[in-house]
Amino acid sequence: MEQLLIEGGIPLKGQVEVSGAKNAALPILAAAALTQDVCVVDNVPDILDIRIMMKGIESLGAKITYDNGRVTIDGSGIKKPVVDSEYMQKIRGSYYLLGALLGRFKQAQTIMPGGCNLGTRPIDQHLKSFEALGARTKIEHGFIIANEEQAPIIGTSIYLDIASVGATINTMMVAALAEGKTVIENPAKEPHVVDLANFLNSMGADIKGAGTDMIRIKGVSRLHGCEYSIIPDQIEAGTFMVAAAITGGDVVVKNLIPKHMEAISAKLMEMNVKLEETEDSIRVYVDEPLKPCNLKTLYYPGLPTDMQPQMTALLTLIGGTSIVTETVYIDRFQYVEELLKMGADITVEGNTAIIKGVPRLLGADVKAKDLRAGAALVLAGLAAQGTTGVFHLDYIDRGYEKIEEKLQKLGADIKRVSFDNVKSQLRVV
Ligand code: EPZ
Repeated sequence: MEQLLIEGGIPLKGQVEVSGAKNAALPILAAAALTQDVCVVDNVPDILDIRIMMKGIESLGAKITYDNGRVTIDGSGIKKPVVDSEYMQKIRGSYYLLGALLGRFKQAQTIMPGGCNLGTRPIDQHLKSFEALGARTKIEHGFIIANEEQAPIIGTSIYLDIASVGATINTMMVAALAEGKTVIENPAKEPHVVDLANFLNSMGADIKGAGTDMIRIKGVSRLHGCEYSIIPDQIEAGTFMVAAAITGGDVVVKNLIPKHMEAISAKLMEMNVKLEETEDSIRVYVDEPLKPCNLKTLYYPGLPTDMQPQMTALLTLIGGTSIVTETVYIDRFQYVEELLKMGADITVEGNTAIIKGVPRLLGADVKAKDLRAGAALVLAGLAAQGTTGVFHLDYIDRGYEKIEEKLQKLGADIKRVSFDNVKSQLRVV
């Protein structure tokens, strides 16, 4: 088992490059299965979730190569619309193959998706959309089965009860090759939803309005291969912005899209963090005491839920009382008990955390319980006095490319050690 060993208290300084967006790359790689032509996708982050998605696509019969951020997918070998690879149980994004296969083959079967444990994460909105488009769906023996009868997939109007990222993306992939027009109302507007729509349009789809309150899709008869580059990762960028703030450092976060960062930047500035923007970077530094604030996670363009744990870690060290409200997931405060081990003062009541700032956090051994929780514990360790050991790195490695290398380049004292080595180091001789 590995852990990240962090000696805290060092203000981070320098520049860091943001990688491609995990939550754009996952649906885009799946969408490449919509065509039997070859798709070339650049700026794909080398993270666990991507490796797992590529295994799943390969298990369908596609040929995939991955070379230094460039993924080439040849979908001509995909003959059966059935995803039974046990890899697909590991990630939430695996259900994007359901949408892609249903779009191309008019029927599909995938194993139920996995993903971070953030409370129940139903897929009813996905199934509601598929049914509206003409595909009967059922869940049997842990598999989602769509359109076993191979009924025609006909465009229609769909109102999503929840502005679900996954359901919006899956609906676009099926509607892109449906007969006739589809309108999606109350869609998700996240940058990665727009990125997927742009990718589908570069394959020959006819999708308008992604990123707005209504997406209009005209079905086409086939999609062709294309070349595409993934947008920068909004959440990785936000995580490094918080790393600069929580350590009282001065960091330029490069290769980002400032428009995507607006809610995160606004909240940091409300705390008195200083930001200087260019067209593709944001300098983040602290030159006076930070102020407590209240925050509420919302669908885009609100403050992303995937930044909630990182923001909470920062607020634990800001004098005064801050209130964090989580409106997207029913259970996204599991990481708080790990922050309490480091001396944080946080009380969780339902979907709200009340944070009283403390003068310091103290290093401790802590466990990542999901991807962004793990990132928050790394941030807390960077600011804490003493040594922090962060365990369960498989969560962090799902969404952050080379996190310790990027932080080391900013001056952090952080290293990845295998737990066995640490035991031998501790062994009394
Ligand atoms: C995507 O998950 C991201 N994952 C999540 O990021 C992110 O937190 C989430 O969008 C919201 O932005 C990927 O893109 C792989 P949703 P997704 O469908 O698509 C409920 C990370 O850290 N819901 O927008 O699953 C659901 O339970 C991960 O990178 C239904 O009730 O998110 C949740 O409470 C964590 N029925 C809320 O909606 C449905 O059919 C948001 O889910 C679908 C969702």
